[in-house]
Amino acid sequence: MEVITVANNKGGVGKTMQCYQLICHLANKGHRVLAVDLDSQANLSTTLGVQIQRTLIPEWLIGDVNFEDVVVPAENTEHELFENVSVVPSSRHLANLAKLLILSEGEVRKSAGRKERLMRLRLEEATSEFDYVVIDTPPMLGDELIMALVASNRILIPTQAQDYSIDGLEELMDTFEIIKDTENPDLRFSIIPSMVNLRRKIEKQRLQELSQSFDITPPIRNLVQMQESISLGKPVFAMGNKSKGAQDYAQLWESLEL
Ligand SMILES: Nc1ncnc2c1ncn2[C@@H]1O[C@H](COP(=O)(O)OP(=O)(O)OP(=O)(O)O)[C@@H](O)[C@H]1O
Ligand SMILES: [Mg+2]
Repeated sequence: MEVITVANNKGGVGKTMQCYQLICHLANKGHRVLAVDLDSQANLSTTLGVQIQRTLIPEWLIGDVNFEDVVVPAENTEHELFENVSVVPSSRHLANLAKLLILSEGEVRKSAGRKERLMRLRLEEATSEFDYVVIDTPPMLGDELIMALVASNRILIPTQAQDYSIDGLEELMDTFEIIKDTENPDLRFSIIPSMVNLRRKIEKQRLQELSQSFDITPPIRNLVQMQESISLGKPVFAMGNKSKGAQDYAQLWESLEL
């Protein structure tokens, strides 16, 4: 089983888009996929057709409820690939996680040693039935993101080719290095240029600079059909093989061996 986290502490860079397309791609190949939504905005849950009043993710992480109590099937009857997708959905209640972690400090220490290891522990207990776990994270360097990184084999980092976006990467890379050194030596990362407009000279230039500091993957372009894919609840590869979005993602998955 492989655990993949999509992360960037900057907001609106295409994390949830990346998760959705990846989940659909893997499920369409016949893999059993668990989607974990660690963002209280719950955008991934909604895109997978799941809306709930109150998520039990905080209670699951601290060990008060079981995996069976937090997991539901994806709700999308349009395409058979969704039969392979299960979801641990989010809601605004996830914002209580920090508080609950403080209140349960003693139990957490007993079960996981440190709170950072909770997600890894829960996934180990629960996920023999899945080939892949894909985790969406909120746009901040908080408990959710740290726990996801400790639990993961790899992290995908969608990045826009703009100054402030690239500056923000440093903070995330520092966190990545700390987690690699302390908790998860095998963690790998990939930087994915996201929502790119190659007709803009400045973006082209920034991408070139970025590729001097990091190995970057083929880019995902800024395309209207990507937004349609989310609003229709239909993965981009199902929009026809002439679709530019489908082509971009096909190249990306190939480069990532996914
Ligand atoms: N390649 C793309 N082309 C055009 N629009 C895109 C593309 N990728 C994402 N979008 C749109 O940009 C917006 C932000 O994308 P998304 O929600 O995936 O970002 P995010 O990083 O998850 O945001 P947040 O930090 O708020 O969770 C959405 O409206 C989405 O549909
Ligand atoms: Mg998001």
